[in-house]
Amino acid sequence: MSAAAANPTKPGLEDVVVSPSEICFIDGHKGRLVYRGFDVDGLVAQSTFEEVTYLLWYGRLPTRKEMDAHVKALSSTANRKLPPKLLAMLRLFPKKTTPMEILRTGVSALSAFDPDAEDNSREATLRKSIRLTAQMPTLVAAWDRIRSGKAPVGPNPRLSLAGNFVYMMSGRKPTPLATKTFDVALILHADHEFNASTFAARVTAATLSDLHAAVVSGIGALKGPLHGGANEQVMLMVEKIKDPGKADRWIRQALADKARIMGFGHRVYRVEDPRAKHLKRLALELGRQAGSTAAVEILDIMARVVSAEKHLFPNVDLYSGAAYASMGISTDEFTPIFAMSRVAGWAAHVLEQHGNNRLIRPRSDYTGLTDEKYVPLAQR
Ligand code: ACO
Repeated sequence: MSAAAANPTKPGLEDVVVSPSEICFIDGHKGRLVYRGFDVDGLVAQSTFEEVTYLLWYGRLPTRKEMDAHVKALSSTANRKLPPKLLAMLRLFPKKTTPMEILRTGVSALSAFDPDAEDNSREATLRKSIRLTAQMPTLVAAWDRIRSGKAPVGPNPRLSLAGNFVYMMSGRKPTPLATKTFDVALILHADHEFNASTFAARVTAATLSDLHAAVVSGIGALKGPLHGGANEQVMLMVEKIKDPGKADRWIRQALADKARIMGFGHRVYRVEDPRAKHLKRLALELGRQAGSTAAVEILDIMARVVSAEKHLFPNVDLYSGAAYASMGISTDEFTPIFAMSRVAGWAAHVLEQHGNNRLIRPRSDYTGLTDEKYVPLAQR
């Protein structure tokens, strides 16, 4: 009996449960997202990205002493700075190289400089998790400046991961609202159960490959427009529409044309993604501060029409770009920013996978031929 006859195919592995996990819980009907027992709404209100990384990796909230040591490790210049040879390598890339290509390549290159690269012990993977989480914002910001002919800005150990990213991108002290926005965005994107990129990272880790390799797999999967790449596509749509007065007609036409509308729909949520409301609030606040809320108005009109006509609701990617754009961040940086946060989740899943490993190796439903007769090349 073939593997498929014993197990009916589930296209896209929809609703297939791959393994137990204690990291993240999603209730797709109630629109609830929980990290290690803590509702993400409460974490947004009271926690920080640094604390959330501790929670994801260690499975509990830190004590004051543990938190101080963890923040110190994530903020230290030693962990945040890029090896000079890597910075020199960045300068060799064509300026048109996208930030996501640089992130994928840069993370891969960082393993060559990491003293624990090949060590898959829990302790070494935790050290690498700290370093990668600290280095990725520096990599993203350095390329953003290099490609526009500016010198990279070194990390500031006195700033939070969110504030330091804004600082390294702009070269200016971040405003409290910009810091808060990035911190909330980082908390909201940190983990999401067995999404495509996390699954890719776990598949890689399950071959007993290392954290850098797993994160590169995750970045590759995140890049696509059906996953993390959707936030860029949303903003390109908003730029096309431009005027809130034109949004209703535009979106109705797109639906009539059977277009896939980025920022809507989800494999798990049957209601609005619980992360969307936080990003919408911040996008509105930043828009007001920057003098235009047109992007959020356009997205709200789209949300009203798409939910009424298609029963599809906003996902995490709908409003995040509007918030980042109000801070002057280019559209092609949105997905790398997503990755800067999701690395926390990827690392938590690699730790869990390595802690109780089994190779992930599914079967295909083979639909090809089986008894072809080989004809020598000269006779074909
Ligand atoms: N726009 C228009 N129609 C949609 C959309 C959408 N955004 N999402 C789903 N549909 C429709 C499909 O056309 C399909 O209709 P049909 O049955 O008449 O053919 C039906 O809803 C089911 O869609 P699938 O693609 O089969 O559902 P799936 O669970 O595979 O898709 C996905 C989930 C990929 C997220 C989808 O909703 C989508 O493409 N959304 C837009 C891209 C996006 O925003 N991705 C980010 C998701 S969040 C994240 O990854 C961080």
